Amino acid sequence: MNDLGRLEDLPRDYRDQLTGQNLVPLWPSLRAVLPPHVPTRRTQPTHWAYKAIKPLLLRAGELTPIEKAERRVLVLANPGHGLEKMQASSAIYLGMQLLLPGDWAPAHRHTPNAVRMIVEGEGAYTTVDGQKCPMSRGDLILTPTGLWHEHGHDGTDPVIWLDVLDLPLVYYMEASYHVNGERQAVLPGEGHRAYARGGVLPTRVFQRSGQRYPMLRYPWAEARAALVSLAESDPSLDCVQVSYVNPETGEDAENILGFYALMLRPGQTLKLPARSPASVFHQIEGCTQVQVAGQAFTLEGADTCCAPGYEAIELRNRSASEPAFLFVADEAPLHRKLGVYEVRA
Ligand SMILES: [Fe+2]
Repeated sequence: MNDLGRLEDLPRDYRDQLTGQNLVPLWPSLRAVLPPHVPTRRTQPTHWAYKAIKPLLLRAGELTPIEKAERRVLVLANPGHGLEKMQASSAIYLGMQLLLPGDWAPAHRHTPNAVRMIVEGEGAYTTVDGQKCPMSRGDLILTPTGLWHEHGHDGTDPVIWLDVLDLPLVYYMEASYHVNGERQAVLPGEGHRAYARGGVLPTRVFQRSGQRYPMLRYPWAEARAALVSLAESDPSLDCVQVSYVNPETGEDAENILGFYALMLRPGQTLKLPARSPASVFHQIEGCTQVQVAGQAFTLEGADTCCAPGYEAIELRNRSASEPAFLFVADEAPLHRKLGVYEVRA
């Protein structure tokens, strides 16, 4: 591959004339924006330990009342992007959020899509689109683009959850904004119970739901049971994984980011191929050794890490006797829609 001309090879007066007309020569930057074979990635493999986050988050609860924060969050920022950018990857935002007993995070809606993965505590709930969703460890609750949501807490201990949003992408698109609203009226019915079993769907007088987001809460008890059942159904299956989907259509649960749960059998090592999207791993149960791009992390309970795209990932269950369970988020729906999704051997 031949070397291309550099900016400093051009005469000063010519460069000044270009700048004066808001023009830029492509060739000095061509290799940077279109590198050979593998994209330039700012996303660095990064590990966030829950035991380091929790005391800092609880201190935020003492330092800043909910009225002064609206959402009391510490952002898990990737140093490769610069901490001030508040992003885990090019499209993924991660935040650890604290809700104290009696706190009320008022209703709003926004263009970025969000999910929350509950980390600890009982008694909190999110009301999404009129549906009251209780929050327990491992539950996944969707707050998709444009849907009203608010958080309340009737319990006695702090509740902490992991927010996963496509905020960096939507912000980059200059399409990120929010609207505040009134407290929502809670509607009857429990969506997660209406869709409690695989293969059968609620059907009202022979009519299926046409909603884009028919299910807003995915209880961990159901996802875990599905993983255990899948593992038992085929003892030779090495990738025991389920996807969070719209149960009516089988499409991804949200438009931009994908969400999955993985089970590692006792002592299992799972090698994931290099894929184009960046991904995030959050330990729900057990302990996992993660290796990616020459780095190794030990994920203990509620730890989170991110991995850049185009890198193979190795996951190893550290326990020889118990399964390990992980929540995974990635940018695959976005890459598929844009036609750039890739899996490399
Ligand atoms: Fe929100």
